Amino acid sequence: MCGIVGYIGYRNVTDVIFKGLTNLEYRGYDSAGLALRDENEIKIYKSLGKLVNLKNELEKRKSELKNPVSGIGHIRWATHGSASLVNAHPHTCNCGKLAVVHNGIIENYKELREELIKKGCIFKSQTDTETIAHLIAHEYANTKNLENAVRNSVKKLQGAYAICVMHKDSPDEIIGARKHAPMLIGIGENENFIASDTPAIIEYTKKTIYLDDNEIAIVTKNRVKITDINGNIIEKRIEILPWEPVSLSKLGYKHFMLKEIHEQPDVIRNELSGKLYDIDANVILNEVKLNAETLKNLNKIEIIACGTSLHAALVGKYIIEDLAGISVEVEASSEYIYRKTTTNASTLVIGVSQSGETADTITAIKQAKEKGAHILIITNRPDSNMARLADSLIPVNAGIEVSVAATKSYTAQLISFYLLAIYLAEIKTHTNKEYIKNLKHELIQVPAKIEEILSDTTQIQACAKQFSSYKNFIYIARGVNLATALEGALKLKEISYINATGYAAGELKHGPIAMLDETMPVLSILIPGGITYEKILSNSEEAKARNAKLIALTSSDDGNIANLFDAVIKIPKISEILSPAVACVPLQLLAYYIAEFLGKDVDQPRNLAKSVTVE
Ligand code: M6R
Repeated sequence: MCGIVGYIGYRNVTDVIFKGLTNLEYRGYDSAGLALRDENEIKIYKSLGKLVNLKNELEKRKSELKNPVSGIGHIRWATHGSASLVNAHPHTCNCGKLAVVHNGIIENYKELREELIKKGCIFKSQTDTETIAHLIAHEYANTKNLENAVRNSVKKLQGAYAICVMHKDSPDEIIGARKHAPMLIGIGENENFIASDTPAIIEYTKKTIYLDDNEIAIVTKNRVKITDINGNIIEKRIEILPWEPVSLSKLGYKHFMLKEIHEQPDVIRNELSGKLYDIDANVILNEVKLNAETLKNLNKIEIIACGTSLHAALVGKYIIEDLAGISVEVEASSEYIYRKTTTNASTLVIGVSQSGETADTITAIKQAKEKGAHILIITNRPDSNMARLADSLIPVNAGIEVSVAATKSYTAQLISFYLLAIYLAEIKTHTNKEYIKNLKHELIQVPAKIEEILSDTTQIQACAKQFSSYKNFIYIARGVNLATALEGALKLKEISYINATGYAAGELKHGPIAMLDETMPVLSILIPGGITYEKILSNSEEAKARNAKLIALTSSDDGNIANLFDAVIKIPKISEILSPAVACVPLQLLAYYIAEFLGKDVDQPRNLAKSVTVE
């Protein structure tokens, strides 16, 4: 969470940092701030809320700025201390000569703060970050060397940090340092950048160096020096970013979320190409680095993830067990890390994450790695910290996803699971070949089926309008689509703030049915031909009998559906096992249009962030 940008070079510093922060706004947006080195001074600008307020603040005070030569900026997602101006970054020391921005959580900040107060430091905020500012300023007073001051200070920090530091008396450099929080350097000609994520710099350079834990970057206009925590120089590889700046544009759509929903057919085609090109040939998944013999004998998989990625994992479990007959456990990363697990060297552990930076999942993966498990990561960010932990890496290649609500990265994760399940089934060889062949045939049709949904969204918009005033929803499904119900409900919750709950339809009568009345719509996912179709229909009848308004998401042509349900969202015909990859799309759209009708901030819902880099 939080976004950091640092710049030193010949361009308009304020513009570069502001633009960088704009491209990182999906990471957090409680408050924002900049520190600019201008006329031998460090000038600080802060604002509460969205970046537009910072823009107004800069505009208001523009006569103060002459010719800034470097700067650091930050957008905040509050952890320690409320979202307020005083808690906004950058933070400074007593004399105001030093400025620091920080992403992460300093666990021992209280002890450090008490020590620093005894030494005369005056704290203005409730943040852990201000401790870092005073600490470095103190070290600087002794060493008169910013690089060493940062190095000595970070040795005292416990927890997670990515920091960017500048000092009035050290005019030609910005220092970056990281531990358990992402940070990278962008390399330019006569200019260099520091950022917490690539979108901040992609407009200016594709050349990047990723800092690893306990590394420090000394960045000047013409040079980037990386050292370890003891000051030893480290030679780092320059990597070339795979993204194009155009992917950060809405391309005429009102919101990134809508654009990203519409990108799904292409994302899936892209993902299938080279892996599934002929239904008579086996799926190719060279990314899996375990040999066929090991995979043949594999009998336990654990999948760890959070949020939407956890829902993709639930689909993964269902289809791997169905197709490959391997037992799969799925667990939220935040639960996995605080219990004794049975993970061992013969377990395949799959980490799923769109961002590749989710702190809980990274910790869980590290724990599994320590136990000797083979780690397979499914992520949209092959350049992420999680990807670096992988023994096998499946990049889902969905392209950068800007909207906080995950959409195309979810379908891309699902497709990875279908490919993986078929791949494992083909190695295990006991699954009916005809069944697999039909499935592959249908998988290739998925993009076209999604296109059919996207080509006419009037029924979804009408449904959204009809139901946008309700305050509570229940989504029900069974089997492989239980995950679809959970994901559909999560989408609605996160962008419209409506209380929506996903339930296994059979569980309805074991408690939740008590809540049903005319104020609680029930959305049922009904895939004819599936083993649970009739059962969900009965569960819907039970809801109707309690006066609940009913919405059907179905591919059924059964005329009775229209009589039973108050609204019907039709999807193209598809087998039940593959239906999650298609059925999730109208639910994304339903959530989108409801949020739109309610005038919510679709791309940046309150309290959320795109990368959850704190546990
Ligand atoms: O980056 P990750 O997939 O690891 O993130 C996990 C969740 O924070 C994320 O999926 C979240 O639930 C999304 N905002 C949902 O749209």
